[in-house]
Amino acid sequence: MCGIIGFTGYERAKDVLLAGLASLEYRGYDSAGISCFTKDKGITTIKSVGKVSELKALVPEDLASTCGIGHTRWATHGGVSRENAHPHTCGNVTLIHNGIIENYLSLRDELSTTGRSPVSDTDSEIAAMLIDSLYTGDAHTAIAAAVTRLEGAYAFCILFADQPDKIYCIRKGSPLVACQTEMGSIIASDMVALLRYSKDYFVLEENVIACLTRDAIEVTTLEGKVLASDYLTVTWDVSSAQKNGFKHYMEKEIHEQPDALLRTITPRLVKYSESGEFYMLPDFTADGIPDTLFLGLTRIIITACGTAMHAGMMGKILFEEFLRIPVTVDIASEFRYQNPILDANTLVITVSQSGETADTLAALRLARSKGARTLSIVNVKGSSIARESEYVFYTHAGPEIAVASTKAYTAQLAAFYLIAFRSAFACGRMPIEQCAKYTEDLSSVVLSIERVLERRDEFKTISRHLIKASDLFFIGRGMDYALSCEGSIKLKEITYIHSESYAAGELKHGTLSLIAPDVPVIALATQHDVLAKMVSNIKEVRARGAFVILVTAKDAVIEPELYDFRIDLPETSDRFAPFTAAVVLQLIAYNTSYLRGLDVDQPRHLAKSVTVE
Ligand code: AGP
Repeated sequence: MCGIIGFTGYERAKDVLLAGLASLEYRGYDSAGISCFTKDKGITTIKSVGKVSELKALVPEDLASTCGIGHTRWATHGGVSRENAHPHTCGNVTLIHNGIIENYLSLRDELSTTGRSPVSDTDSEIAAMLIDSLYTGDAHTAIAAAVTRLEGAYAFCILFADQPDKIYCIRKGSPLVACQTEMGSIIASDMVALLRYSKDYFVLEENVIACLTRDAIEVTTLEGKVLASDYLTVTWDVSSAQKNGFKHYMEKEIHEQPDALLRTITPRLVKYSESGEFYMLPDFTADGIPDTLFLGLTRIIITACGTAMHAGMMGKILFEEFLRIPVTVDIASEFRYQNPILDANTLVITVSQSGETADTLAALRLARSKGARTLSIVNVKGSSIARESEYVFYTHAGPEIAVASTKAYTAQLAAFYLIAFRSAFACGRMPIEQCAKYTEDLSSVVLSIERVLERRDEFKTISRHLIKASDLFFIGRGMDYALSCEGSIKLKEITYIHSESYAAGELKHGTLSLIAPDVPVIALATQHDVLAKMVSNIKEVRARGAFVILVTAKDAVIEPELYDFRIDLPETSDRFAPFTAAVVLQLIAYNTSYLRGLDVDQPRHLAKSVTVE
């Protein structure tokens, strides 16, 4: 939510800021702005409603500055307007903010007695007012005092008018990563903005102050003690965060799934020998995840948001089948307020692509505070959830830029399969031969996904039928139900077509009344054990005139009168069908959005990384 960047160095700040904002735009894109120190004129601020391209058009080519801050906004407090766009200035202070200041109303009232009144409706401007009210020439003291008054989450980059070419930063809850390079010092919400300058970066700790100057980034505690920064290295290169010839990031990321899965699965396969036989099994020694984590468990809770939560629904099915331990899946924003019953025999698994989702992070903190064991499945290295979790299983999907999550989802699925197999093996509930066989089957989904991608044009015909729909249903049972939830969110978030996912057997308890002639129903029937039941449910919607798109196994015998389109998945055992079926649903959502002429990568009102509650 909101992308922020700060640069001070030897290059033109406007170029670094605008390029950085373009790469951070997936975090929010309703308005954008920059502020730069300019010779003679002090701080120059340029803001605009709309995307970064609209801001770019307003920035003078000759804006001579080598220090500035930039922001791309996802509105929380106050509508989308130029006034509400960042940066915000009050007196000596100009700042950009990602997060939410929860006590901004009481602070606003208090600060109004000092003669300061806001021009915007934002909570962020109140933070600028507060810092300005505490500033007497010592930035460190003013910021340290201000944060004791702020409630909520924040990442700030702050310019002080009388301290040219310096940027002060602090964060709590919202991410900031930084790097020092030959061309200067740079800080941003996400590593993707730093990639073109460096693969080495450090995560700014919470509640410490960073002061960026051209040649150094000094990090100090609130009390002024200087801290060393631990640098991390990403394996991604600049091209991994570019479109590389695809029309959209989403299309590219869908096509990257075979590689993302290979990178996630292969490093975890280790050769074991038993009774003279060799077996390839999942092994997490290199991840630092010991088998003891799974021993003596009485319960697993999986908690996450959106697509990551849907991956968790699949995880529940796998754990219950193989590990035979009760599993619940909770939406993170609900979990944290329902006073969950947790103990040392409970494993709480949090799942997050970004590793920064505020609700998931809060759920993790709650789990730790109550003494549960914690394991996170995370894509972004060094992110808050990864750092705060007892154990981390990194998916190696690479940077995911499109708001709609695709490769991160299938990589999360792969993580759940691997963890379910390993934990069941470690607990003596899955024989070694079985574990090796399932692991081999999992590896083979990479090829099956490639087969689906080769057929991508086939699914465009279906999208042509969907573009005029106003309502749509996904139905399925078991794994297909978990997948239908994911298919539905994918379609609605980027096509704006209302869609719902239903456990197929539940339709007749209410939802069937919504099935009218020609309402599209995407029926997932990939599981042979419930095929007959699923066919009955398809008959129920068909009898009411539904336009049925069937996704099923090649050998499933289903009367042709029951569907308008049939998609046969490449042969895999049912257990692994969610991978290929997910790719089919992603392609249908992608093509439908594209054919509707929508902004596929940046759908309205959404943002990639949801760092507010
Ligand atoms: C997926 O397409 C969504 N954009 C969204 O549901 C996302 O999965 C959710 O916000 C969780 O994000 P995270 O994985 O970064 O925690």
